[in-house]
Amino acid sequence: MSEGKQFLITGGAGFIGSHLAQACLSHGHRVRVLDNLATGLESNLEGMDVDFVQGDVRDEALLTRIMQGVDGVFHLAALPSVPRSVKDPYASHDNNITGVLKVLIAARDAGAKMVFAGSSSAYGDTEVLPKNEDMPVRPLSPYAVTKVAGEQYLQVFARVYGMPTAIVRYFNVFGPRQRNDSPYSGVIAKFCRAALEGEVCKIEGDGLQSRDFTYVADAARGTLLAMEKEVPGGEVINLAGGNRISLLDLVSSLSKLCGREVGIQHVADRPGDVKHSQADVNKALRLLGFETEYSFDEGLEKTLEWYKKEHPAPC
Ligand SMILES: NC(=O)c1ccc[n+]([C@@H]2O[C@H](COP(=O)([O-])OP(=O)(O)OC[C@H]3O[C@@H](n4cnc5c(N)ncnc54)[C@H](O)[C@@H]3O)[C@@H](O)[C@H]2O)c1
Repeated sequence: MSEGKQFLITGGAGFIGSHLAQACLSHGHRVRVLDNLATGLESNLEGMDVDFVQGDVRDEALLTRIMQGVDGVFHLAALPSVPRSVKDPYASHDNNITGVLKVLIAARDAGAKMVFAGSSSAYGDTEVLPKNEDMPVRPLSPYAVTKVAGEQYLQVFARVYGMPTAIVRYFNVFGPRQRNDSPYSGVIAKFCRAALEGEVCKIEGDGLQSRDFTYVADAARGTLLAMEKEVPGGEVINLAGGNRISLLDLVSSLSKLCGREVGIQHVADRPGDVKHSQADVNKALRLLGFETEYSFDEGLEKTLEWYKKEHPAPC
């Protein structure tokens, strides 16, 4: 796909979506955002030349209207978070599964390509690491079910209607603009806040659980590549660095950045959580030429700096 396309980003006022909007604009594309601001913020798009539409991805009439002239759709709108889905599985189902199907139908009818934000939660708690895209899916939470269902819809639409689709599986994305004010916030967002406010980091379990933390600018760049490059319909591609950082490592990196020991409190494990996550990143390299540019420590430093500016308090 050449430069200068019209893209629609659902969930574009959210954390990853707003960085993706920035990446699209800097590649010369035009961006329309559809977001109901359930968890996103319009201020995330401040200073960006985007056409912002406040609305819900389940609104079919609205979808038909805003899909006009769109070459490609990034579908990121979803209610994220495993614990949120454990508490309210229907809300996750309705936003995420009904949502993806309605957006797919509208994108197909508009002749647009679609890239979907999948999740490493699809792999479940497999002991085999790194996790590669050929492994069977094993969702362990309602949230993971919704993400797998979305992937499968994109694959079926590629097969049945010949629609160009691609799936990127994110692995614990972190960075500026990730919300840290909700019980459903990502762990790095929460721990940065705790570190900056002089509080302890609450670790669920022993802290040896590990994640392939991916800096958001890398995730956004890889997502755009999945749109710009020709990939086989319905292809699933891990987008991550291929590394594994434990929560104890995370706290120790935060302590170094803060220049003092950040405290830890161990609390009970949470249901539906997976122990280890690490991506096999060969397919992203082969199909997209994608490799991360930011190391974990570089990303963490940038992230902490951003939270410091947002929440000025002694580190
Ligand atoms: N952050 C991660 O580490 C991670 C990991 C795996 C997958 N993902 C996926 O990436 C996508 C973006 O996640 P994020 O971390 O930026 O979360 P986010 O909550 O910041 O973004 C989601 C956006 O979707 C919007 N939204 C939700 N329901 C909507 C609806 N019905 N209609 C319109 N807009 C709606 C929200 O307002 C929000 O702006 C999600 O699909 C999520 O499942 C994220």
